[in-house]
Amino acid sequence: MSKMEVKTSLLDNMIGVGDMVLLEPLAEESFLENLKKRFDHNEIYTYIGSVVISMNPYRSLPIYSPEKVEEYRNRNFYELSPHIFALADEAYRSLRDQDKDQCILITGESGAGKTEASKLVMSYVAAVCGKGAEVNQVKEQLLQSNPVLEAFGNAKTMRNDNSSRFGKYMDIEFDFKGDPLGGVISNYLLEKSRVVKQPRGERNFHIFYQLLSGAPDDMLKKLNLERDFSKYNYLSLDSATVNGVDDAANFRTVRNAMQIVGFMDDETQSVLEVVSAVLKLGNIEFKPESRVNGLDESRVKDKNELKEICELIGIEQAVLERAFSFRTVEAKQEKVSTTLNVAQAYYARDALAKNLYSRLFSWLVNRINESIKAQTKTRKKVMGVLDIYGFEIFEDNSFEQFIINYCNEKLQQIFIELTLREEQEEYIREGIEWTHIDYFNNAIICDLIENNTNGILAMLDEECLRPGTVSDETFLEKLNQICAGHEHFESRMSKNSKFLNDHTLPHNCFRIQHYAGKVLYRVEGFVDKNNDLLYRDLSQAMWKASHSLVKSLFPDGNPTKINLKRPPTAGFQFKASVATLMKNLLTKNPNYIRCIKPNDKKATHIFTDSLVCHQVRYLGLMENVRVRRAGYAFRQTYEPCLERYKMLCKQTWPHWRGPAREGVEVLLKDLQIPREEYSYGRSKIFIRNPRTLFHLEDQRKQRLQDLATLIQKIYRGWKCRTRFLLMKRSQVTVAAWYRRYAQQKKYQRIKSSAIVVQSYIRGWKSRKILRELKYQKRCTEAVTTIAAYWHGTQVRRDYRKFFRANAGKKIYEFTIQRIMQKYFLELKNKMPSMSPIDKTWPARPYLFLEATHTELRRIFHLWRCKKYRDQFTEQKKAIYDEKLEASEMFKDKKALYPSSVGQPFQGDYLEISKNPKYQKLSTLVEEKIILADIVNKINRANGKGAPRIFLLTKNSFLLADQKSGQIKSSVPLSDLTSASMSAQTDGFFAVRVKEGTPAAAKGDFLLSSDRLIEIVTKLYRTCLSSTKEKINIEISDEFLVQFKQDKVCVKFVQGSPKNGSVAACKRKNNRLLEVAVPSP
Ligand SMILES: Nc1ncnc2c1ncn2[C@@H]1O[C@H](COP(=O)(O)OP(=O)(O)OP(=O)(O)O)[C@@H](O)[C@H]1O
Ligand SMILES: [Mg+2]
Repeated sequence: MSKMEVKTSLLDNMIGVGDMVLLEPLAEESFLENLKKRFDHNEIYTYIGSVVISMNPYRSLPIYSPEKVEEYRNRNFYELSPHIFALADEAYRSLRDQDKDQCILITGESGAGKTEASKLVMSYVAAVCGKGAEVNQVKEQLLQSNPVLEAFGNAKTMRNDNSSRFGKYMDIEFDFKGDPLGGVISNYLLEKSRVVKQPRGERNFHIFYQLLSGAPDDMLKKLNLERDFSKYNYLSLDSATVNGVDDAANFRTVRNAMQIVGFMDDETQSVLEVVSAVLKLGNIEFKPESRVNGLDESRVKDKNELKEICELIGIEQAVLERAFSFRTVEAKQEKVSTTLNVAQAYYARDALAKNLYSRLFSWLVNRINESIKAQTKTRKKVMGVLDIYGFEIFEDNSFEQFIINYCNEKLQQIFIELTLREEQEEYIREGIEWTHIDYFNNAIICDLIENNTNGILAMLDEECLRPGTVSDETFLEKLNQICAGHEHFESRMSKNSKFLNDHTLPHNCFRIQHYAGKVLYRVEGFVDKNNDLLYRDLSQAMWKASHSLVKSLFPDGNPTKINLKRPPTAGFQFKASVATLMKNLLTKNPNYIRCIKPNDKKATHIFTDSLVCHQVRYLGLMENVRVRRAGYAFRQTYEPCLERYKMLCKQTWPHWRGPAREGVEVLLKDLQIPREEYSYGRSKIFIRNPRTLFHLEDQRKQRLQDLATLIQKIYRGWKCRTRFLLMKRSQVTVAAWYRRYAQQKKYQRIKSSAIVVQSYIRGWKSRKILRELKYQKRCTEAVTTIAAYWHGTQVRRDYRKFFRANAGKKIYEFTIQRIMQKYFLELKNKMPSMSPIDKTWPARPYLFLEATHTELRRIFHLWRCKKYRDQFTEQKKAIYDEKLEASEMFKDKKALYPSSVGQPFQGDYLEISKNPKYQKLSTLVEEKIILADIVNKINRANGKGAPRIFLLTKNSFLLADQKSGQIKSSVPLSDLTSASMSAQTDGFFAVRVKEGTPAAAKGDFLLSSDRLIEIVTKLYRTCLSSTKEKINIEISDEFLVQFKQDKVCVKFVQGSPKNGSVAACKRKNNRLLEVAVPSP
């Protein structure tokens, strides 16, 4: 809780008083009045010191929400209005923080709300303790054990629709941090008689109804059950359904809870099988059968039902049937079998059903314990929650009520002992003198019941074990003898004559004055129920079952382990377990919840005074208050006390700096409270009378009002002032901002003006400086110019004489050099192309360069020709050689020549060697052919031409027939002297043969060919190379040709022959051949 949080107290907004200790005046009426008032205002919880009284509201109130849990979490017990959560929180924190084991003792009569209270405590603790997957699982298992146990152990009774028919004590175990680890459940005495018979208006245990209404069809079929309750004798039919209870839904809840707790599916199945078997046992009926020997016997009426049961739990039918018909008694190693009559058979059947069910219940508790037991062996902190059946007074009370009431008697005892002890201890702890308190101590009643020698239980055991005929009557007689003198025991037959005429006390009853009232017990059935016998035949039959759960429920049926000693009686067992419980509780710090039932009708808003008064009395609540108030009614530690009342005294308000105790002392002195009204303990202030406390409270209330006014006043003042200050501050802020803005504007105006003025001044100054600088520069320049001129004049004057003598030559040389340089550079740029026939040459720039220019042109041309020639191959060179020769011979001499310049000299035009036509000819000519062509041989008779093959070889020339290739003449070259031709464009030429040679006989040859130039050139060159002699080349328009013996003159004339451009030869006479050459 934060420091700023307002400290609250139980005393705030109280309806009546929240703590009965403060009741004023203390009387039963005011006590009831207070309870009623609070109950009417839905305040169902009221304290007596640290004890919580809880009234059953019979409706759900919105006071258990998670918000409420948070509200009560970690708050002091008296800080908030009374609540069961406050108690749970106190217990849990004391367990966690102070390591004190706790027990929560919940008492009250049936229907008062004990079971609900225990669940509320558990759920609160679950909500506030640690969290985490593992812890949550443990919590869930602990919480889910409740629905399982309630289904099997609770039933609808006249008083309560969900009445616990067993006592339950659960230890919840925590680790050092306060996280739950697990738990252990102990159960006490299940009311098993309910299995076979229920009083009117009550029901059997819930599970039977739940199973029949909630199980799915296939499950019922498997269990051989029918949904109809009326089919089963053990189920009471008049109240089979309970208002507001949905058995079917509860069945699903229970199965789900079983699963969460850790029951395997087959375990659940087995449990339901046993439940069905119990249910079906009730339907077995017997019929009498007389035997010859006069003994009564019984037989099972309808074997079908028996068969189904046997199938269900796996027993041979005959075995069970026998167990219902016979009883074997073993005495001194002898077995004696007696038959059972019908009544005995029914008794046996019911005993089996009861035993089966109660053993199943114990097995369930053990099984749950197995699941929820803590997994660690380390020391655990323990919180025990005891929810045990409440004190019961019925019209007809039997052994069960006796036992239950005995248990409540014991609980009351430890309540008294512990509260007193605690009170006493607190006084001692606080150093306050202890004054004796008068209260009723019920130890005397406990003694009456449990005394080992002459207690009622001891006598019942004695009676049960006694040989001889034993009956409930003999037991009552014995009681009458032994207990008659006891002040809490009443019996008609007792020696005490006091009751002889008490007609409210029947003869077969005894009455005990319990702490909670007088209860009349009928002795019928006491002995039997205490014995709690199950015929051995039956337990042996069960042990033989193949159903493993049933078998394990009857270990006493194992024939190898027959124990001839009688089993302990029910009373004995219960006494022992109660003693263990008491011992256990005494080691723990107790917390009490005392439940009260407001009416008998399970109705809301009804407060039956007499009923509540009765409970208040027997719960000893008044005594409780008295004990608590003995000496001092109210106590509180100093700190919260000072905190609550410090406003009542100037010295302590608003802060007390010093120990709280001194503060309280100052406070009380200041308030002038009489000294005997209070006492200072070590840590607490004790106030004797509630009046004093209420006086303090009243004053506090008044003072609080004053304080509230004061606070209001100050707050209002503060608020106004704050507002004023805020407005003032705002005004200042606004003004400041405005001023700032105005100043800013003004400043900016001044600033811009200043800048303008400044710029003008600067401009003016700069211009002035610029003018000065310009003037200076002009002065400098003028001076420099003047000086330069002056210096020039001086120098020229000094050097004039030297200059005149040499300048002309130098200038001339320089100029010439310059011109040449320019000339060469220009020439270089204007060079003509490299083609030798290119005739272009740049123009000459100056006349005096004429010779140089021409020379350069020549050199350039030669160089260019050389370059051109250098590219020639040998072959090409030879061709040009030949052409050159031709040129030397014929250029400007014969008009035919120019037309030959462009024609290449091919030589072999006929390709003699390749042409098959001339094959013969080529075989005749062995030497290489230099020239082969068709020429016309001019007939000397008529001047007409006939075609002949002209062949020139290295050594001779030949003429052959063009068609046949036959050689007509062959002349060695050495026999030739000259060749003649005209200067015209014709192709006629004569080849002269040396006189006196064999060829000379035939005479000279007159031939004609267009290729004259080539033929003559080649002829000339071949002759020269083979004979080293030159033949003569004659060019003349008239020459003589030797034909055999005649010399004929060949004359060339210009004319236009008939056949166009071709020259024509004609024999004019014996001595003349005329060739007409077309004029060009
Ligand atoms: N705090 C509560 N708020 C609302 N209803 C309550 C409260 N306490 C008890 N009841 C109602 O009273 C009924 C009986 O309560 P519960 O079963 O706790 O009684 P009991 O004291 O355990 O009785 P028994 O001794 O027969 O077991 C509950 O079923 C519930 O309806
Ligand atoms: Mg209960």
